[in-house]
Amino acid sequence: MKILKFPEKFYWGAATSAHQVEGNNHNDWSEWEKANAPRLASEAKSKFGHLPNWQDIEKEAMDPKNYISGMAADHYHRYEQDFDIAKSLGHNAHRFSIEWSRIEPGEGKFDEEAIEHYRAVLLALRARGIEPFVTLWHWTLPLWLANQGGILHKRFPEYFDRYTEKIVQTLGTNIHFFVTLNEPDVYTAAVYLKGMWPTKRSGWIYCKQALNQLVAAHKKSYATIKKHAPTSAVGIAKHNLWFAVYRDTFINRFLKKMADFWWNKWFLQKIANEQDFIGLNHYHRNVIDNGFHKNPNKQMTDFGWEYWPSSLYQTLIDLKPYHKPIYITENGIADAKDTLREKFIPTALAAMHQAIANGADVRGYLYWSLLDNFEWDKGFWLRFGLVAVDYATQKRTVRPSALVYAKICQENAIELPGSAPEN
Ligand code: FCB
Repeated sequence: MKILKFPEKFYWGAATSAHQVEGNNHNDWSEWEKANAPRLASEAKSKFGHLPNWQDIEKEAMDPKNYISGMAADHYHRYEQDFDIAKSLGHNAHRFSIEWSRIEPGEGKFDEEAIEHYRAVLLALRARGIEPFVTLWHWTLPLWLANQGGILHKRFPEYFDRYTEKIVQTLGTNIHFFVTLNEPDVYTAAVYLKGMWPTKRSGWIYCKQALNQLVAAHKKSYATIKKHAPTSAVGIAKHNLWFAVYRDTFINRFLKKMADFWWNKWFLQKIANEQDFIGLNHYHRNVIDNGFHKNPNKQMTDFGWEYWPSSLYQTLIDLKPYHKPIYITENGIADAKDTLREKFIPTALAAMHQAIANGADVRGYLYWSLLDNFEWDKGFWLRFGLVAVDYATQKRTVRPSALVYAKICQENAIELPGSAPEN
């Protein structure tokens, strides 16, 4: 047996986002779902029919109800029970998002009851000895803002700042880690480049404008948090990929340089002076061979992503030049049968351990996700949870892999048979 110890006071836990677990949200996504559910159901076979698990998911994926977030995991009402489970699994940190559309349902009109709800959520975590990592924006917008152009509205950075100020003034003393934005890159690419998610406009010009707006919004929000809660740490959750060159050719090296710059570095460099830590969301590598996504895919997750947990190593090493603490704000696997997850987590963590040994300042790991949840335009059939949710009864069941992870959290170490697994 080989034992890999992690640094002291390491944060271990899991992440969720409001729209994906709370239930009963009323925002730009919930409206888009209603308008698009029949179309998404009718496209399911052409999009997912190639997946090895198609037979298992077919019924759910072809049902328009799958594309309506509805009650989701009803976490809005069940958060205490869910945090009890997190505590029993040895978690000492938890990432969740505050739903802007609940806090500010009308332009400039704040809902005090919603604020009190999130105060209760923060206190419920603290009462269990769990440190909250709070995301301010995890992709959903209040309808009043979406109807006026959303991110592209010229006053978007000010609106986001006004919402930030309200949160930091009312709840700030209980928040030591703020994540202003979740994955601005994935969001803007899916919304404006691919036209896949709620938007009225698409095109690369809008994509670039939206990225600039999000940079400006983050900067304002950073200054506001620092003004009212100077000791709190602020960052974003950045989706980085490991672009792996398959053959060492000029074209492949060039593609890697471009992708590294535009996908992995651009946003982080823009906010280099306005971030106290880097939140890393990482799921897979992207193999380059005269093009992208040339992954051999010998083994796939339910999402159709290649199973390759050790890409976390190089992704972390690539963040060293920023000289900032790193918290892994998402890393996980869609695995309904829970057959790969118990190997995925230790393999990813062995990679993280190796990155720490080689100088990456990693201070926490938040698995995606605590609960099964609503996976945006794919709906409910993807099962990322440490805890399974039966949506008909809202019953929670701890998956066996959650116990493998719990042992690691409790011991702050991984035990590996012999040497660390390669993948
Ligand atoms: C990330 C998102 C998160 C979830 C996971 C699977 O890109 O931040 O909400 O959808 O992917």
